[in-house]
Amino acid sequence: MTRTTFYTATTLDGFLADEHDSLDWLFVQDIDEAGPMNYGEFIAGIGAMVMGRTTYEWVLAHNERTGDPWAYDIPCWVFTHHELPPVEGADIRFASGDVVAVHAALVEAAGDRDVWVVGGGDLAAQFAEAGLLDEIMAQIAPVTLGAGRPVFPRPFDLRLTELARNGAFACARYDVVGPR
Ligand SMILES: NC(=O)c1ccc[n+]([C@@H]2O[C@H](COP(=O)([O-])OP(=O)(O)OC[C@H]3O[C@@H](n4cnc5c(N)ncnc54)[C@H](OP(=O)(O)O)[C@@H]3O)[C@@H](O)[C@H]2O)c1
Repeated sequence: MTRTTFYTATTLDGFLADEHDSLDWLFVQDIDEAGPMNYGEFIAGIGAMVMGRTTYEWVLAHNERTGDPWAYDIPCWVFTHHELPPVEGADIRFASGDVVAVHAALVEAAGDRDVWVVGGGDLAAQFAEAGLLDEIMAQIAPVTLGAGRPVFPRPFDLRLTELARNGAFACARYDVVGPR
């Protein structure tokens, strides 16, 4: 059965990015690409993905800076109230409002693979509020920022199901139990 997972890095104090959407604190951390909860293994099991506008704009800007092409060959939904540019050759679908119908489309597109909620945190929490987020996989970096984009800004109970160290990261996997 298709699982819906919020797979993300976060600071110890619960931020996905700083107030200027910078991930500078993340890319300097030591990580073993073949280690526990690694991205390669995770993305190989993903058939569809979803993100919010800020994350999409970050990816577009990052790709423009680095000259990288769009890295995904699976459908990607982007939640926004704005007109955003598509990426040539990429399967990007814009959406707005309730996450329930989009989740059904994500699951259908994923086939026998899983759904990745890329972020941000409130979008992931919208799926959780609708009872549609199964788990959170967090790579916790040894950094505090004091402020920034929150990892999951709604009150939920989680159950720890896996814990490992990968380089500088504490990697924790949680089932979503439900709203507090
Ligand atoms: N550390 C990591 O691994 C990691 C992972 C993911 C993201 N990030 C970073 O974290 C930051 C996240 O930014 P963020 O907190 O602003 O979250 P975001 O989800 O990326 O973007 C928020 C925007 O998504 C749109 N949105 C969300 N729910 C919607 C809905 N139901 N209907 C329509 N639009 C909806 C809204 O866009 P409109 O303004 O168009 O209404 C909202 O302002 C970004 O900088 C990203 O690059 C880091």
